[in-house]
Amino acid sequence: MKWHKIPGVQHTPEPFIKKVTIGLTLICLVGYEGEIFALSALCPHQGFDLSGGSCKYSKLICPLHGYSYDLRTGKGSEGQNDKINTYAVDIRDNDIYIGLPTVWDSIKQVFNKR
Ligand code: FES
Repeated sequence: MKWHKIPGVQHTPEPFIKKVTIGLTLICLVGYEGEIFALSALCPHQGFDLSGGSCKYSKLICPLHGYSYDLRTGKGSEGQNDKINTYAVDIRDNDIYIGLPTVWDSIKQVFNKR
């Protein structure tokens, strides 16, 4: 895993939703009830931008059709049968870091599933 410092964003107890880009990965960074979460910014339903959504009951809600995803697991709500990627988050001196798997991590994951 490689850690990426997110510029211009500091840890705050205030709620927020912000889209950040690391390489080609679009990430929805969410501050909710004092915790920070990082999830894929693309809704698997029809590809809408989840960072324009809202949070309720620890779920990120897509603004287009209301599909919702657990902030911790990325699992879609009952009946959706879908999931979005979640990413590791670390706070260091109030700065926010997101951990993304490296290419090597992804290759190892494929072989470990066999
Ligand atoms: S595009 Fe997100 S719920 Fe339809």
